[in-house]
Amino acid sequence: MSTLQSFIKGLGGYAQDLYGVARCRFTNPHSYTKFLTINRLRKETGARIFIEAGTFHGVTAERCASVFERVFTIELDEKLYERAAKRLARKRNIEAIRGDALIALPKVLEDESVSDALIFLDGHFSGGETAHGDLAEPAVEELEVLSKYRNKIKAIVVDDFRCFGTEPGYPSKSDLFKGAEEYFAQHGFNVTVYLDQLIVTRKQFA
Ligand SMILES: C[S@@+](CC[C@H](N)C(=O)[O-])C[C@H]1O[C@@H](n2cnc3c(N)ncnc32)[C@H](O)[C@@H]1O
Repeated sequence: MSTLQSFIKGLGGYAQDLYGVARCRFTNPHSYTKFLTINRLRKETGARIFIEAGTFHGVTAERCASVFERVFTIELDEKLYERAAKRLARKRNIEAIRGDALIALPKVLEDESVSDALIFLDGHFSGGETAHGDLAEPAVEELEVLSKYRNKIKAIVVDDFRCFGTEPGYPSKSDLFKGAEEYFAQHGFNVTVYLDQLIVTRKQFA
């Protein structure tokens, strides 16, 4: 799919979301609506680098490459990684990484040139061809790992909040909140939920 086709499809999804809100039947935002939230947080916090756990087809990574200086995206499944890496190769500022985000995230953040990051935690088992790592949804463990790099982080978005405590193997919503509060809210960050995403931002940008 070309960038223009993807943009038109995204606008269609966004229009559907607006219709859902108008009818009070809004549940899971379209990926373009999620991108608009990420871009709003980028502007508010001054984030320059986007780091994504869970590449899948690379749609969000590709969109984010047009607004962030650099994009890192991590995919556990070999076939999904290879397909997405091929698609994303046309964007020079994207680095596609094959591996478990729990292990790859700290490696990316150890890089001295990486700072002012917005992290998108979306690397979980979602059925079908998607990978199932040691954990179906490692977001709580990822928050713990990320807490060591707090000074490099402007914001974190944890996707699919509705699935926590409802999908098999996912931690509960309260465990996710506990992790976000213990590792971030107690250290100068705000935590909130907006459009099915848990959002952590540095306090001065709330
Ligand atoms: C919901 S999809 C990601 C969608 C993508 N972020 C987007 O916005 O287009 C979840 C992806 O995470 C991958 N995944 C599952 N566990 C993972 C892990 N531990 N580390 C990295 N990726 C993982 C799955 O294979 C799947 O491709």
